[in-house]
Amino acid sequence: MQLIVQPTPLEKIKADLLVVNTFAGDTKPNGGTGAVDKKLHGAISKKIKSINFLGKNAGDYFLLDNHQSTGPKQIMVISLGERKNFSLDVIRKVAALSLLEGKKQNAKIITTILHGAGNGGQNAQQCAQSLTEGILLSNYHFDKYLNEQKKINRINKIKKIIISQRNKKNLTAIKQGIKLGTIFAEGQNFARDLVNEPGLTMDPKVLADTAKNIAAKNKNISVKIFTQTDIAKLGMNAFLAVAAGSEKNPYFIHLTYQPQTKPQRKIVVVGKSITFDSGGLSLKPADSMTTMKCDMAGGAAVLGLFSVLSKLQPNVEIHGLLAACENMPSGSAIRVGDVVQAMNGKTIEILNTDAEGRLTLADALTYAEKLKPDFIIDLATLTGAAIVALGENIAALMTDNKELENKLIKAGESTGEKIWPLPLEKNYLSHIKSNVADIQNVGKGKGVAGTIAAGLFLQQFVKKTPWAHLDIAGPAWTEDKSIPYLTVGGSGWGVRLLLDYIKNL
Ligand code: BES
Ligand code: ZN
Ligand code: ZN
Repeated sequence: MQLIVQPTPLEKIKADLLVVNTFAGDTKPNGGTGAVDKKLHGAISKKIKSINFLGKNAGDYFLLDNHQSTGPKQIMVISLGERKNFSLDVIRKVAALSLLEGKKQNAKIITTILHGAGNGGQNAQQCAQSLTEGILLSNYHFDKYLNEQKKINRINKIKKIIISQRNKKNLTAIKQGIKLGTIFAEGQNFARDLVNEPGLTMDPKVLADTAKNIAAKNKNISVKIFTQTDIAKLGMNAFLAVAAGSEKNPYFIHLTYQPQTKPQRKIVVVGKSITFDSGGLSLKPADSMTTMKCDMAGGAAVLGLFSVLSKLQPNVEIHGLLAACENMPSGSAIRVGDVVQAMNGKTIEILNTDAEGRLTLADALTYAEKLKPDFIIDLATLTGAAIVALGENIAALMTDNKELENKLIKAGESTGEKIWPLPLEKNYLSHIKSNVADIQNVGKGKGVAGTIAAGLFLQQFVKKTPWAHLDIAGPAWTEDKSIPYLTVGGSGWGVRLLLDYIKNL
């Protein structure tokens, strides 16, 4: 599938499906849509009237057959919703719906208007980037384990998607947008593949091999892999405690991206990388375990980021850390009530082996700070409580650094990855105070805020570096189908957020 921009006017381009747009309440289309309407002797405005098309919600659409001998076979008129609610994410959604419709219609060529750039008043490059993302993300399937017939049914017959743009001075910007959108979507789809792969085959060793592969392919990326012995030497006993119950060996993975020229900034991104979370001896109920192959989604986002960094070429030194292991119950598993000493010297009483992510992250954060970065960001499917608080579409952000908070929220607004801040409330530190150790890994008392308690726990392992923690338990895994460019399964949440954040640093 090829994605290109052409200066040919919309109504002259050949296509099986032509996608044009309206805003809610528009009865008389204008701009590109208006030109097509004119060419079709007002067929679009007639249909809007006859079916009383209101287009209240972004993504509402109708199809129109073209009975003339020239021009596209079919026209899809899709609404961008209310003008005041328009955003780049509307473009992603609308682009995704056009691809899905094109597939349904067995279209080979789709031509589309560049949503948002005309009437929406948005920057053409960003519009093209979002359109590209919507298309490439919605074209994603995880069909490795499906039978041949099912695979064939999913084959995409679309050969070409043409963005029609009459305004010649926008062409360069649109080409750049397509390029960026491709990088962003490829990074995210890379992460989705990792998350969707079952724990049987996506284990700590495979994560380490994936990192090695990325480093081998990109000359400005290097990798250090620490084995169990190395991890023990580093004193990462909190991490090792989690790995203790599994037959699979843990790996600590350290990726480094070094830009060509002297970097202005140095950042570390840490991703929770539990390749399967059974809960350990504090075993999860069966139903809570069904999606726990997704507990390495933070690590997958870091790998997705590194998989495309060389194409973006940011002038930032970037370190990616994954403490990869599996959380299993067994005779060698850590017990409830055990005390371990983390890499930074603090002792931790483990009162619930299912609160394992924070144990692995504790040591990863200690390691991160030793690299002396300007910022540390971690992404972790850390607490079910984050899903209770914010649901499936929004990640919880905890940080005590305003600059980092603002920049991440801004990045999320542009990528459509929603973030909501929660406080690192000092009063709640009493909830994770232990009677026998410096700290305990779960909160006590009746009013425990699970997501904040986990954030406060992590904070104990960052001394002075500006740090932000993103609890992605909700958005890392898609269950409902409210976002048309995502499908049920791993979402690859965070890859575009990190890319956008880094690009604008
Ligand atoms: N990986 C889970 C959190 C999770 C739950 C992620 C649902 C995605 C979907 C984490 O390790 C966990 O089990 N947390 C416990 C913490 C509790 C024992 C304090 C939880 O949320 O129940
Ligand atoms: Zn757990
Ligand atoms: Zn977990």
